[in-house]
Amino acid sequence: MVVGADGRDMRAVHIVDSGAPEDVLEIRDVPRPEPGPGEVRLAVQACALQHADVFARTGHPEIEDEFPKRPGTEMAGVVDAVGDGVDDWTPGDRVNVYHHVSCGECEFCERGEQTMCPHDRKFGSDFPGGLAEYVAVPADNLEAVPAGVDMETAAAWPSSFTTAWRMLVSGGGLQPSESALILGASGGVGHAALQLADRIGAEVYATTSADWKAEQAAEWAEDVIDYTQEPFDERVVELTDGRGVDLVADHVGQETWQRSIDSLATGGRMVICGATSGADPDIDIRSVYQRHRRILGTPMGNRRDFRAAGRLIARGEVAPVIDRVLPLDRVAEGHRAIENREVFGKVVVTPGA
Ligand SMILES: NC(=O)c1ccc[n+]([C@@H]2O[C@H](COP(=O)([O-])OP(=O)(O)OC[C@H]3O[C@@H](n4cnc5c(N)ncnc54)[C@H](OP(=O)(O)O)[C@@H]3O)[C@@H](O)[C@H]2O)c1
Ligand SMILES: [Zn+2]
Repeated sequence: MVVGADGRDMRAVHIVDSGAPEDVLEIRDVPRPEPGPGEVRLAVQACALQHADVFARTGHPEIEDEFPKRPGTEMAGVVDAVGDGVDDWTPGDRVNVYHHVSCGECEFCERGEQTMCPHDRKFGSDFPGGLAEYVAVPADNLEAVPAGVDMETAAAWPSSFTTAWRMLVSGGGLQPSESALILGASGGVGHAALQLADRIGAEVYATTSADWKAEQAAEWAEDVIDYTQEPFDERVVELTDGRGVDLVADHVGQETWQRSIDSLATGGRMVICGATSGADPDIDIRSVYQRHRRILGTPMGNRRDFRAAGRLIARGEVAPVIDRVLPLDRVAEGHRAIENREVFGKVVVTPGA
């Protein structure tokens, strides 16, 4: 990527320090990127926020504490310029972006497991992200947005639904004859997992933290448990006549691990992709091995997972819930809403608006 070769500037969100969204999210003018060989420049029309954006601002053990950062992982836009050697895309094409870039050569890349690659990198953390008017990305990472899918929707699913696909389908292997419990059902990953579990035809239970969220989640679940009112594991065991569920999807971590394990049937599996509440759970390991239970890491999906999720979205069988759409200069509101857990689904920012 050659930055600003044509001398034009663009607006881009910068996280300039750790702190409150209103204090540390700045929109700065920076040179517009030029696409290098094999790259395209996108005019970004929509970019979704996720919890990692909050972690990037507030600090997280797995995220580097170097500022400023240029966030924005889930994005969709229009091809604006193409670099040398790019034949498949032309200006005006509507696209979204598979957000991982890997080495293409290691044993994992050869198996198509891009996110297992030791050199796996991501837009919005390792590269400048899509919370900007323009972004340069490798042409190989683009996917055409079908005519019936709007750009906010195209930006709202790439990471959340791909991860959820990995958790439930390619990692967790959920079957129509099985039952599943989806935690944090209002979250980006949570509401994606909820819809996929329902689409698979499984018997679906969900947890969430407020009545208004439970009402929305109920569209895809047989029962929604407000875990702020009752221990969710006890309720799940009761609802399943003492058996427990075949699969629990847990992205919450420390606060929920033991109850998630205790919600499982004998031989059940817990798929995990996050540690929002902390990464150091206090668990009784006997509750895992004595009941033949398994814990599977499913932290993100590969390109096949991404495409599979995209096909369901293109057919309208599942759809990200867009809680709100904000212009670039109101990005702090989006951060605040996610942090305060006032969101069901996704917050989408429109840099081009
Ligand atoms: N977004 C992605 O694509 C992605 C990909 C890979 C991994 N992850 C990981 O998955 C986790 C969730 O990410 P996300 O983007 O889906 O987050 P999100 O949209 O902010 O959703 C998180 C949800 O978790 C629930 N929750 C329960 N306990 C919580 C706590 N102590 N703090 C905050 N939320 C809590 C809340 O739902 P209720 O009120 O309904 O309980 C909240 O809406 C993160 O740890 C993230 O790093 C995310
Ligand atoms: Zn590799």
